This record gives sequence, C-alpha cells and structure tokens, in this order.
Amino acid sequence: MRNILITGGAGFIGSHVVRLFVTKYPDYHIVNFDKLTYAGNLANLKDIENKPNYTFVRGDICDFESVRNLFVKYDINGVIHLAAESHVDRSIKDPFTFAKTNVLGTLSLLQAAREYWDGNYDDKLFYHISTDEVYGSLAFDGELFRETNKYDPHSPYSASKASSDHFVRAFHDTYGMPVIVTNCSNNYGPYQFPEKLIPLFINNIRHNKPLPVYGKGENVRDWLYVVDHARAIDVIFHKGRVAETYNIGGFNEWKNIDLIKVMIKVTDKLLGRPAGTSDHLITYVKDRAGHDLRYAIDSTKLKKELGWEPSLQFEEGIEQTVRWYLDNQEWLDNVTSGEYEKYYEKMYSNR
Ligand code: NAD
Ligand code: TYD
Repeated sequence: MRNILITGGAGFIGSHVVRLFVTKYPDYHIVNFDKLTYAGNLANLKDIENKPNYTFVRGDICDFESVRNLFVKYDINGVIHLAAESHVDRSIKDPFTFAKTNVLGTLSLLQAAREYWDGNYDDKLFYHISTDEVYGSLAFDGELFRETNKYDPHSPYSASKASSDHFVRAFHDTYGMPVIVTNCSNNYGPYQFPEKLIPLFINNIRHNKPLPVYGKGENVRDWLYVVDHARAIDVIFHKGRVAETYNIGGFNEWKNIDLIKVMIKVTDKLLGRPAGTSDHLITYVKDRAGHDLRYAIDSTKLKKELGWEPSLQFEEGIEQTVRWYLDNQEWLDNVTSGEYEKYYEKMYSNR
C-alpha cells in the first residue's frame, strides 16, 4: 500500500501528476496538499476529484504543524513535492515569498518526513521536483545542462529552487533520507496559468492583444509537453535510484521569437483566420532583468537508465495545446478574473 503525498497538485504540472497517479494506481492513496494560491485551481482536477483513492487537503507547506499532522493522519510513505512559487517575473518583484515557500516550505516537509519516518526508510521516498534554471544560463555553443553541472542560479526563483535542492540532498547526506531530485526544462500544455509565455500568448492572440516579447526574443528555452514530464515522474518515482539526480528535457530548443511565430500561425489557423493576421501583435518590450540566455537539457541519463523519452513531437504538442486553450476559454476567464479564488475561499472558510 502506498500513501503518496503530492504537494502543489492543484497547479499546472502537479495536476497532471495527480491525474496520472490516481488513474494508473487505484491501489495507492493519493493525498494532494495545496494552498490554492493564485496558481492552484481545483478545476484542473474535476475529472478525478471523486475517485475513491484521492483526497484533497488545503494547506500551506510552510505550516509545519499541518504538514506534520498530514504525515500521521495519512501514514505517508512517499512524497512527490511540486508546491512552489514558480514564475520568474514574480520572483523579481517579490523574492521573499519565493524564499519562504520554496526554501522554508521544502524544509518543513523534509523535517516532517524525517520525524514521521524516524529512521525507518524502507520503501520511503522523498522526491523533489526542480528546474533546469538552477544550472544558470548557456551560451549559443551547443552545450547542454548535465546532472554534473555546477549550480549557478541567477533569478530569485532559480536561487530559491537551488537552495531547496541543496536542503533535499543535505537530508540524504545527513540523516540518510532516501531522496531523488529531478531538474526539468520548461513545460507546456493544458492548465498552465496564463502568465507564462505559451498560455499568455495564445490568449492574447485570440483577443488581438499585444504579445510582449522581452528583449530581442532571442532567448532559448527547451520545451517539454507536461504529460511527458508527468510520465517521467512516474518512472523515476518507481524505478529511479535513491540519491540520484535526473535531468528531464525534450531535446527541443526554441528561440522565443520562433516559437511565438509558430503559436501565431497555429492559433490563426485554428481560429479560421488568414495566415499572418496576428503577426502585427508582436511587440518588443524591455528585457527581463537578469534574463537567462539559453536553457537546454541533456536527458540521456534518464533515457539510458530508465528508458524514458518524450512521446509527443513538438508540432503535435503545440497544436493540441493551442486547441485546448481555445476550447477552454471559460477556464482561462476564471483563472484570470480570480473568480475561482473567491469561490474556494468561500468554500473552505465554511469548513
Ligand atoms: P504552478 O505555479 O502552476 O503551481 C504551483 C502549485 O503550488 C499551486 O497549485 C499552488 O497553489 C501551490 N502552492 C504554492 N505555494 C504553496 C504553499 N505554500 N503550500 C502549498 N501549496 C502551495 O507551478 P508548476 O509550473 O506546476 O510547477 C510545479 C513544480 O515544478 C515547481 O516546483 C516548479 O519549480 C517545478 N518546475 C516547473 C517547470 C515549468 O515549466 N512550469 C519546469 C521545471 C520544474
Ligand atoms: P516563462 O514562460 O516565464 O518561463 P521561464 O522564464 O521560466 O523560462 O518565459 C519563457 C521565455 O519567454 C523566457 O525567455 C521569457 C520570455 N517571455 C517573454 O518574452 N514575454 C512574456 O510575456 C513572458 C511571460 C515570457
């Protein structure tokens, strides 16, 4: 019997991980622990919310007492930790929140796991989900981030994630806790909050709003379909080697401006507009402070050791994604208007 705590399960990636685990493993009990910040949305999980092996608990990973109680109440023997503040632009405006949630929140989970497991680490695992941004920035030289790269974070977001990664490894080295850390590249797909490049731009194209391209649009990101990330997490949770790090990426590098042109082309096509209709929306704006030039992941270790590779070609993934956002305008309207936040505030304040 596995009782798995998934933190941040109401967010973008977390909701895909929860869905995969709840449907694929009916014998597991999946406990989704999420604060429901602006980025968390239970509507992301409507299709599985009534499954018997699924429980949602609203709470804050920084609240040590609540986290401690959670381990006891649900006899947690595995953790997949995704809860975090995740947007670089927000971290530039408000670094404290990032340090609090990403660093202290992770520490609170680690400490609660350590107390509850009390040195009995058989069949236990603390799996921490991190980002490739901890490795810093690459030049246009074909180099890729490998698991052996030194950490060199630049934004408050990546600095907070790097710090949390170090705490996770420290709990292995100091207390013997079985841990795994994975560092993944940029994800895209359904249910991503429309402050991130891909959903923001699809929504703006639809509504004929400007597309704010930072700097010259020459920065490069390596894009992975979110369901493929969830599949990787499944494989690593079950077969990954303890104390190891695995990089997860799609070998799918795109210069921002080229990706934006693809999004315009696909969105115009699916909306039945003539090609080129939305090209004029591209608007170059002031660059992001400390904007990392290029991220690119080498996920060879994961492929060689555990046989994982992305299942979806990018062309197919981006078309599916554009179609999903166009078909789910109500979801977009709700998350951008804050209506769902008000709804859940009310619902949970009555408990
Ligand atoms: P997200 O912002 O969409 O979701 C984060 C979730 O965490 C939300 O549901 C939010 O309510 C919850 N949360 C935030 N603070 C909390 C707290 N104090 N207590 C409990 N819950 C809290 O993020 P995402 O894009 O799904 O990213 C999930 C994880 O994956 C993060 O750890 C992120 O660093 C990592 N990651 C993301 C990407 C990406 O491209 N999005 C890539 C690599 C790694
Ligand atoms: P984002 O989706 O915020 O992810 P990250 O910063 O974690 O990589 O941004 C992806 C890229 O797109 C990044 O190089 C910044 C750029 N970008 C823009 O040019 N305009 C925008 O409005 C946003 C949100 C991002």
